[in-house]
Amino acid sequence: MQFQWYPGHMTKAKRQMQEDIKLIDLVIELLDARIPLSSRNPDIDELGKNKARLILMNKSDLSDEKQNRAWTQYFEKKGYFVICLDARSKAGMKNVTDVVMKACREKIERDRRRGILNRPVRAMVVGIPNVGKSTFINSYAGRACAKTGNKPGVTKGKQWIRLNKNVELLDTPGILWPKFEDQTVGLRLALIGAIKDEILNVDELSLELIKILTADYPGVLTERYGVDEQCKPAELLAQIAENRKCISRGNELDYAKAAALLLDEFRAGKLGRLSLERPNEETP
Ligand code: G4P
Repeated sequence: MQFQWYPGHMTKAKRQMQEDIKLIDLVIELLDARIPLSSRNPDIDELGKNKARLILMNKSDLSDEKQNRAWTQYFEKKGYFVICLDARSKAGMKNVTDVVMKACREKIERDRRRGILNRPVRAMVVGIPNVGKSTFINSYAGRACAKTGNKPGVTKGKQWIRLNKNVELLDTPGILWPKFEDQTVGLRLALIGAIKDEILNVDELSLELIKILTADYPGVLTERYGVDEQCKPAELLAQIAENRKCISRGNELDYAKAAALLLDEFRAGKLGRLSLERPNEETP
């Protein structure tokens, strides 16, 4: 399957991020917990070198808990601080502050040794489109936090949100682009709904999802749609169409409707908490 991408202002966005990163101590990187590698742009490692690093595995309410734990270990081993999160919920935000402080302890100590006291840690949120950056900033910063406005010595126009006496957050997130030249990455992004369906072949996409689910989560499709998982993916889609009464005007099975239904239900978590990537595969 070919994916069309319109990179447009990518270079500009990257340059902007290079500038913004100079101002901060900590990079808060959001990934989609269902596809932690495909939703990540490895450029961030180069851009964020010498900075403290925190990975938020967002939408972890939709991903497999076992894989969440495996991925947490995977990234922790690489030296990142990691939190599994549902950015829509305010409940986990206190923990985020605790971990932010932990991640920046070294910097705070370094400041203290140099006689710099009470300089807040500055952080920036980064991630690919649709990963939940705005949702996170809203939940984390909330309404209670006043914007600090421009500061002398800081690039004009930058807004900082004061989270507490120790932490300030840049109010505009950095946008990273996925590795769209990789077809597997494109497929997985499409499956979680990070690429608009209008530019995709929904039937083909649903067949790919069926292949992945029957291999990695046997029984899930049978339980929801009463299908026979021994059948080929196209036959399975036909069974879903039949069982869910996806019928076109000519009284024929409507595959496109069944495909859209399957994708919608998967993305909404109706098939259960499922992950499309496992750390032991280490792909892509
Ligand atoms: P962005 O700034 O990175 O582009 O992403 P944004 O916050 O706009 O979030 C994209 C979508 O993901 C939103 O849904 C948002 O509600 C949803 N979302 C964000 N974090 C989480 C999470 O942890 N779990 C789940 N399940 N969803 C999350 P939307 O469909 O665009 O809007 P809406 O239907 O929520 O109104």
